[in-house]
Amino acid sequence: MLGNFSYHNPTKLYFGEDALGSLKNEMKNYGKNILLVYGGGSVKKSGLYDQIVAVLQECEKNIAEIAGVMPNPTVEKLNEGVVIARNHQSDFILAVGGGSVCDYAKALSVSVHCDDDPWQKYYIRFENPDCTIIPVGCILTMAGTGSEMNGGAVITNHEQHLKIGHVFGDEVMPKFSILNPRYTMTLPRYQMIAGIYDIMNHICEQYFSGEDDNTSDYLSEGLMRGLIHASRIAVNNPQDYEARSNIMWTATWALNTLVSRGKSTDWMVHMLGQAVGAYTDATHGMTLAAVSLPYYRYIMPYGVRKFARFATEVWGISRDGRTDEQLAKDGLEAMENWMKEIGLVMNITDLGATESMIEGIADATIILKGGYKVLNRSEVVQILKASL
Ligand code: NZQ
Ligand code: ZN
Repeated sequence: MLGNFSYHNPTKLYFGEDALGSLKNEMKNYGKNILLVYGGGSVKKSGLYDQIVAVLQECEKNIAEIAGVMPNPTVEKLNEGVVIARNHQSDFILAVGGGSVCDYAKALSVSVHCDDDPWQKYYIRFENPDCTIIPVGCILTMAGTGSEMNGGAVITNHEQHLKIGHVFGDEVMPKFSILNPRYTMTLPRYQMIAGIYDIMNHICEQYFSGEDDNTSDYLSEGLMRGLIHASRIAVNNPQDYEARSNIMWTATWALNTLVSRGKSTDWMVHMLGQAVGAYTDATHGMTLAAVSLPYYRYIMPYGVRKFARFATEVWGISRDGRTDEQLAKDGLEAMENWMKEIGLVMNITDLGATESMIEGIADATIILKGGYKVLNRSEVVQILKASL
């Protein structure tokens, strides 16, 4: 393990088919004014909205609502929410939806009492909140982002062609999250698959870095093996509760701050994917899938031993006298085959990106330093072109 670290995760989880039963008890811990935040309507269609409102009414809460939080929530929607929350004097924000709704709730929690412009403060200057933060709880309906147990909040600014994530600290992480795998069963297939790849890539981002022998990497390998197994079952039968519950639990552990402890992390696939997202507004997991193989094939020579380990430990490829280079290639090929098998989008053209956007997407790509190769701008352009 590298360096010194602390580990603490303040989010309390309720998992399983009866998880919503804990909402009433949790609500006792917070004030009267509850701001209910949700997306474009799936929660009304599924009946979950009615169930939640019934609990809040039973608890005699004053409910205000922000509906229509879109996938890849925008800065305009954030600013609109600030006004609603101020008028309502919200004591608590209850997010019901996928990563977009949970992220939005967290961004809102640090923006309502912020004297500054939240976009500038948190997403351009990356400052920490210094105002009162409204506590957040999540009722998750989509597995993928890990937003239910982390401090991440990604906001898109279409005018500036930027999609940026701020990872806030413990004080912004959800106080509790309710995870019922049944809720994810109404997801369209495209979203289920995008979520599965988002999970896979969160683990890869934290795995493909460093040369040290690290417990976090062994945990990651187990999570990846379990995810690949469950994904195959879920793709064939989306109603398989066991597979969907394993996917949901893996999503949480893939990005709840655990598997990054004591090691460096990469996150360049996310930087490329977010920049593609800023230009296309495409589904997050698909943007990652579309840039992943060109990126990994490019950096693989700089981290060949880890890519070889990925082949043997995650994909079960036997060494059989193969060199690390050969194994590394075979491992990525196995990942490519699995990605195609489950139906992911494999290029950015299919997401609406064009050659003329490449320079702009490269400008919007934040270059990070934790992976096997620190890219320069022309390498970013090269990888994006290979992703077309
Ligand atoms: O809006 P509704 O009608 O609810 O429909 C949503 C949306 O259209 C639908 N959906 C969700 N649950 C459903 C459902 N439809 C039917 N049944 C259900 N049970 O799915 C669509 C996508 O939802 P969204 O919340 O956008 O998906 P996801 O969970 O993938 O979240 C994506 C956002 O999270 C950010 C992404 O950048 C993106 O903005 N991320 C957040 C992270 C974090 N907090 O750490 C990390 C991730 O890497 C990611 O960047
Ligand atoms: Zn992601």
